[in-house]
Amino acid sequence: MLHASFRLDPAFTIAPVSRRTFGSFVEHMGRCVYTGIYEPTHPTADEDGFRQDVLALTRELGVSVVRYPGGNFVSGYRWEDGIGPVADRPVRRDLAWHSLETNEVGIDEFMRWAEKAEVEVMYALNLGTRGVQEALDVHEYVNHPSGTRLSDLRRQYGSEKPYGIRMFCLGNEMDGPWQLGHKTPIEYGRLALETARALRAADPGIELIACGSSNSSMPTFATWEAQVLEIAYDEVDYISAHAYYEPLDEDLDSFLASAVDMDHFVDSVVATADSVGARLKSRKKLNISFDEWNVWYNKRFEATRETVEWAVAPRVIEDCYNVADAVVVGNLLISLLRHSDRVTAACQAQLVNVIAPIRSEAGGPAWRQTIFHPFALTSRLAKGDVLRVELRGPTYDTARFGTVPALDAVATHDPESGDVTVFVVNRSQSSPADLEVGLAGFGRGFRIAESWTLADDDLMAANTEDAPDRVLPKPNETAWIEDGELHASLPPVSWTAIRLAPA
Ligand code: AHR
Repeated sequence: MLHASFRLDPAFTIAPVSRRTFGSFVEHMGRCVYTGIYEPTHPTADEDGFRQDVLALTRELGVSVVRYPGGNFVSGYRWEDGIGPVADRPVRRDLAWHSLETNEVGIDEFMRWAEKAEVEVMYALNLGTRGVQEALDVHEYVNHPSGTRLSDLRRQYGSEKPYGIRMFCLGNEMDGPWQLGHKTPIEYGRLALETARALRAADPGIELIACGSSNSSMPTFATWEAQVLEIAYDEVDYISAHAYYEPLDEDLDSFLASAVDMDHFVDSVVATADSVGARLKSRKKLNISFDEWNVWYNKRFEATRETVEWAVAPRVIEDCYNVADAVVVGNLLISLLRHSDRVTAACQAQLVNVIAPIRSEAGGPAWRQTIFHPFALTSRLAKGDVLRVELRGPTYDTARFGTVPALDAVATHDPESGDVTVFVVNRSQSSPADLEVGLAGFGRGFRIAESWTLADDDLMAANTEDAPDRVLPKPNETAWIEDGELHASLPPVSWTAIRLAPA
């Protein structure tokens, strides 16, 4: 049996919980849009062709902001292909995923979907094959009230009011050689700066995200961020981060510690951005938009990539997630919350079918993957302020990340309701853990309001079309409060959330 402990105190506040931490991502890729959020012939389709079963699951997931329309897709996308009468819209090649894009869904349809899903939209601009003028054109179409060619076109196509999009990504993964219009950091820094200046001239209040590295293994990682920010620092608000994790060489111990890598990644990007800020003698601090993160069995995809050819909405990276994946996703959310002082937006990639918490079948059901559950519970329960946790407990050795803590936790405190929620993972494959959390700092008593644990004897168990609820979080019956301390027993490889309410 492992033992771990920490003390909580309302004075240990890191930052308020940012609702934007619970973002997601809809890319025109595979079946995320077509037969994912949109399928006019589906029995649950509404008058706009949106699947209401998927909409309901999106709301249940607790998604706050959705990045759109890509991803690698956006770097070859012509936004104007997706407006106006659907019959007149062209079919185009999507070079990023070797698919055909019918453009049945464009910005107007997506904004309608977002309203129904009750989410904010983070719009990614094409700075791959396009540039400043197209960025301005998209902005005029979506945000200018009226009286100009593009704003009047939007009104003509049915949206009288501007959409008021606040967050814009200045391109996608522009450091990646695979990206259409891939650039050097100097080329991209200049383009990001000029695009940002132009957009701000139109709308000073928008929030702009510069592309950071595609992942922390890129040979140019950190140099890219430094060089881009040397040029664009003053005009942008965020630098993006992307990270995907998967078990490599069947090394589950390392995979379960993926959040250690995310912690390190965030700390490195913050240090890099702050060092540029210091050199520029700027008082401004940039935040991180962690706008792609998840578990992705990328090695499997790379092995089959060649087979994806010019189909409409082909099945691409429809990873089926197991219990271990869900524990890792819960832990990645713990890492994101822990960095709430600097990571103020994050998007799990993606929302439906494509490495997604929601799966759907054309003409068939939609269901929750295992990773749906830690996301939905964290989004619902993380309220108020994030509290710092200094966990004392055992460690274990991993091949990829060295010696890592066996348990990892974060907590939130909602000053309004008085609720305190503890999110904790036990990464150990062999031992359950006893957790002890000191609550004396609150100067009052608590009761356990709800307590959920996701774990299973079979770490490979998954939810499928035939068994959509095979893996569910279950009430943790072992949690109790005694002498001002929370106690709980955590099974091996488990994710737990415990909400305490004032007694
Ligand atoms: O989410 C899938 C892809 O991963 C995105 O299109 C791209 O930005 C990233 O490399």
